[in-house]
Amino acid sequence: MIKQLNKISAFMPPRVSTGIASLDDFLGGGIVEGSAFLFAGVPGSGKSSLLMQLSENFAEQGRKVLYVSGEENFNQIKARANRLSANAPDIYLSDEIKLEELFASIDSENPKVIVIDSIQMLTSNTLKSMAGSVSQTRYCLLELIAKIKKENRILFVIGHATKSGLIAGLLTLQHMVDVLLYLIVNEDGTRTLLSKKNRFGETGKEWQAYMTPSGLKENPESELGEVITKEVNQEQLDILCSKGFFFSSAVKGNLGLIYEKIIGGRLPQDAKITISYKFPKL
Ligand SMILES: Nc1ncnc2c1ncn2[C@@H]1O[C@H](COP(=O)(O)OP(=O)(O)OP(=O)(O)O)[C@@H](O)[C@H]1O
Ligand SMILES: [Mg+2]
Repeated sequence: MIKQLNKISAFMPPRVSTGIASLDDFLGGGIVEGSAFLFAGVPGSGKSSLLMQLSENFAEQGRKVLYVSGEENFNQIKARANRLSANAPDIYLSDEIKLEELFASIDSENPKVIVIDSIQMLTSNTLKSMAGSVSQTRYCLLELIAKIKKENRILFVIGHATKSGLIAGLLTLQHMVDVLLYLIVNEDGTRTLLSKKNRFGETGKEWQAYMTPSGLKENPESELGEVITKEVNQEQLDILCSKGFFFSSAVKGNLGLIYEKIIGGRLPQDAKITISYKFPKL
């Protein structure tokens, strides 16, 4: 197809909100329809959680979501969804990891948003190589992107990365997607979502978040005061915990990890640990 550039209408469809205002800003004003996201992160960083949270938000806006998981069974996904209060009727789960069959499901279900958890699990009958190989991953993503662009759907693809960055298979995918986001776990347990590439917005931006039982929440630095570092022994920790200090603060700031450490086991006798935390501003 060839078209004269100045005859093409400049109509840009309204951007789709993620349901989280600060995340929309981070992405340059929401999500452009027909775009493909690669959502990379280290194991346990919260990729599946955040994408299930967004699935719930899209479904609540009336956008049908097909969440494809090759890594966890339906019961495991349901358990996480319960934790995140994701129960909108417009979220559909699929365990279809054969590309050709997944395409058939997309055609029959007609979802607006597709989440692939993870791209390393998808395989196509066209290739002989194993799931997770560079050739399978590249081929499946290229085919998926071509399809969603033609059909104006939104695609989120999760990819496992290592602490040092994108792994080989993913490195070769970054030029294909419109947006590349990278979820990292900071030393204090908080999460940072980095925008490495964005065809529709600024890059180099960060979205700060922390993990709670009900999912990733924005971590507005402005609401937190100075960092306090002190050495405490078991007795002092017990006092702080018995006052509910760590628990209540975990919901607000970056203390989730400290709290998990404490309930996970007691300190050896007379041992001291150094804790750093931020007091919420009063
Ligand atoms: N009840 C809970 N309360 C607080 N945080 C929790 C709870 N359950 C799980 N988490 C957090 O969620 C993280 C796992 O989230 P999730 O499964 O979304 O990560 P992921 O990046 O998809 O991991 P994977 O690479 O294994 O697929 C855990 O590392 C933990 O920090
Ligand atoms: Mg996951």
